Amino acid sequence: MNEKKYIVTTALFYANGPLHLGHMLEMIQADIWVRSARERGYNVIFLSGDDQHGTPIMLQAEKLGQSPEQMIDAVHQDHLRDIESFHISYDCFYGTHNQETKQVVNDIYHKVTPYLTETVIEQAYDPVKQVFLPDRYIKGQCPKCGAKDQYGDNCEVCGATYTIDDLVNPYSILTGQTPEKRATPHQFFDLKPLTQVISSWQENATIAKNIQNKLTEWMDDLRPWDITRDGPYFGFEIPGRDNQYFYVWLDAPIGYLGILSHYLKGDPYTLWDDESSHIMHFIGKDIINFHGLFWPGVLNAAGHSLPNEIRTHGFLTINGQKMSKSRGTYISAAHFNQSIPTEYLRYYLASKLTNSTDDMDFSLEDFKNRVNAELIGKIINLGNRCVGILTKHFDGQLLEISIEDEIWRDSIVHAEKIRPLWLSGDYQSAMRSVIIWVNHINQYVDTHKPWAAVKIEEEKPNAHQVCSMGFNLFFRIMREIACVLPKTFEKLNLSINENQSDGMVLPAQKIENYPRLLERITDEQIESLLTENAAQR
Ligand code: MSP
Ligand code: ZN
Repeated sequence: MNEKKYIVTTALFYANGPLHLGHMLEMIQADIWVRSARERGYNVIFLSGDDQHGTPIMLQAEKLGQSPEQMIDAVHQDHLRDIESFHISYDCFYGTHNQETKQVVNDIYHKVTPYLTETVIEQAYDPVKQVFLPDRYIKGQCPKCGAKDQYGDNCEVCGATYTIDDLVNPYSILTGQTPEKRATPHQFFDLKPLTQVISSWQENATIAKNIQNKLTEWMDDLRPWDITRDGPYFGFEIPGRDNQYFYVWLDAPIGYLGILSHYLKGDPYTLWDDESSHIMHFIGKDIINFHGLFWPGVLNAAGHSLPNEIRTHGFLTINGQKMSKSRGTYISAAHFNQSIPTEYLRYYLASKLTNSTDDMDFSLEDFKNRVNAELIGKIINLGNRCVGILTKHFDGQLLEISIEDEIWRDSIVHAEKIRPLWLSGDYQSAMRSVIIWVNHINQYVDTHKPWAAVKIEEEKPNAHQVCSMGFNLFFRIMREIACVLPKTFEKLNLSINENQSDGMVLPAQKIENYPRLLERITDEQIESLLTENAAQR
């Protein structure tokens, strides 16, 4: 019996726009883990929410002519709808702009006071818009080759790297104005004294080796971390400071605790710090520094437990390209759902996901072929053809099968091999094993040719047995991949009477009104996936 209490999160999603397939990759990866863990009786709380603070959110709301509060509320409703349509089984999907998070942020801020230092810094300021400019709001000419419109870290034309102050003729991308320099005192969080603690946590927590190495590299150069932002800013005001706010990346991870507090309707620390708790974050590789350096640093400084495990994935590309509207490769979660049933994406991503942080491609052609050939052609079709023969020749009567049959014992071996793969995160191997398994079963059915046997009186009983066995095996496979296709399994389950005591061998029964579970993907559906981009142009 596993007595641990799992607190599982995905990252929090920026509230300045819709969810897209890259976000869904992260949710699906975590959801498959959570569902298979729950299936094994694990005690899991699955949490996430919207990341509702920061300059981009403030500016986006302004552009829409809304208050930030209005915008984040509307976005939250959209995100909730998408989460439901992709069957992500969060126990709570909340946000950071709320009382619970504010309280935890203030509390932690006070607890980490000994680690705070103050320094006056100069920052770029847009005199027309009257906002301080984060680096990515400034462009200029490359100091090396003179290329125009480059960001302040590296040049896309000649590849030179430099800092924002090296840019020639810098301008604000908001107004085109030359940024001014303004000095304000900022509070910094000093990570240096925590070097030892963070390093040993990095070694001992469950984190992929290549990510660990990356984190270790960064440890050599731990500079104080600026947690202050000057107003105007959309966030929580820092207590006792004039017109200054917490940096969104301070309050976002603390949001995990705020969301837990909302879910528990009270103090989040007792559970978080409980020795039997196992804290697990699913994140993309772009945010490992926040989860692998700053977050453990803040937690430790505040006297709370550090995460036990970080699972990192790479980026989703579409037809080999970065997701982008202007390249015509953007697919929002809502648009996908309008074009194609979402479980097909769950299936496709499951068949590709591993613990690697390499990027993963969503190729439309490969997606269609794989779903049609494997999921429909091999798995769903196994059920359809067995039920088809049972209905046509045996009045829909399913016989009870013998668990001594070799093909049944073989299936137990397959199922046992697959189960641990879900929890280890190697969904690709799990799905490969499922395909090998279903191939065996299809071969078994083909060898016995029940469609021909039904026509010969003395072979009819055998055909009846074979189709009953085939359907039982199909049901077992669907049970093993229910974490990937939860709705389809539910639909199947509703039409089949399960034996409560055993739950493996189906009781003899009459199958009536067998549903059409899933259909082949059509070319029209595939074509409609990218139409969102055309509409945008
Ligand atoms: N708000 C921060 C996270 C704060 S966590 C305390 C953020 N938000 S995000 O909306 O940009 O991204 C949310 C998650 O989605 C991140 O883990 C990110 O890596 C992931 N992805 C965003 N685009 C993605 C792809 N194209 N592919 C795969 N994952 C992607 O970062
Ligand atoms: Zn250049």
